[in-house]
Amino acid sequence: MRIHIWYFSGTGNTWYISNHIARALALRESRVTLSSIESADPPQVEQMLDECDVIGIGYPVYGSDLPSPMKQFLRSLPVPPHPVDLFVFCTQWLFSGDGTQAALEFLPSRQYRVRWSEHLFMPNNVCVSALRLPYTNDPKRIARRGAQQIPRISRLADHIVSGSSSHRGFGILPALLGSLQRSPFRRFFSSLQNDFTIDQSVCTRCGLCSKICPVENLTFGHDKIVVPQGRCILCLRCYNFCPVQAVVYRGRGHISSRGIPYRGPDDFNPREEKKRWHKY
Ligand SMILES: Cc1cc2nc3c(=O)[nH]c(=O)nc-3n(C[C@H](O)[C@H](O)[C@H](O)COP(=O)(O)O)c2cc1C
Repeated sequence: MRIHIWYFSGTGNTWYISNHIARALALRESRVTLSSIESADPPQVEQMLDECDVIGIGYPVYGSDLPSPMKQFLRSLPVPPHPVDLFVFCTQWLFSGDGTQAALEFLPSRQYRVRWSEHLFMPNNVCVSALRLPYTNDPKRIARRGAQQIPRISRLADHIVSGSSSHRGFGILPALLGSLQRSPFRRFFSSLQNDFTIDQSVCTRCGLCSKICPVENLTFGHDKIVVPQGRCILCLRCYNFCPVQAVVYRGRGHISSRGIPYRGPDDFNPREEKKRWHKY
């Protein structure tokens, strides 16, 4: 079986899960390729749709919704001449209701058939001091949470290779619960897109935030001052990976006593996401 997985990951959790799913499928004698949608280009997407038997889609849930780049990616998929089997997985901290089913809204055709879906529980990546949600930056605890997902990943891989459908996050009740989070999140999303700014007195002008932003929201103005462009998708990469914590949320910087922000499992490197492509 030939499988290609496209994923989006702001801070590494979905990258980690995507790689483990790819490995689990490869162990079951599938030929698997994996790429971040930040590196995808339309001809490559068409080629993969032609060549693969099954396609995987992975993303983190934001308020039971998909990150904007994943919505855009799904909407831009070509309408295939024949049915394409998909599996959809999402990563979340606590709860999304219908985090996977939410993808259906953005698929451009019923020719895309979601035959498998799974929710994976990963550490919280929201560590802005203004909200004070609990998070960890302890590599052991992060690795433990990741390892706890392996049985779920193995079951998903078994279902995919055996061809028997399995769904999590689908149905009326998950949709109802998901919409309780998604509706307000969508309503307020545009008002949140300007909430992250740069404390110019702390910023060292290293340019990392600008390089790793998935949507080119952070561009250099004069004197290499980083200027947000109002396109933020709330992925938290800039806030979490800034080496001097110069990114501030609603005017409040990261409180140093909380430790460094969340930077994903293993050695996730956000600089790689724009060229990430892997064969298993
Ligand atoms: C804007 C935003 C909204 C989020 N909303 C939810 C949510 O509704 N439910 C949940 O369990 N986790 C939520 N999270 C946590 C992430 O989904 C979770 O940590 C995810 O694994 C991060 O994946 P990534 O590292 O690949 O970006 C949210 C995170 C962000 C940044």
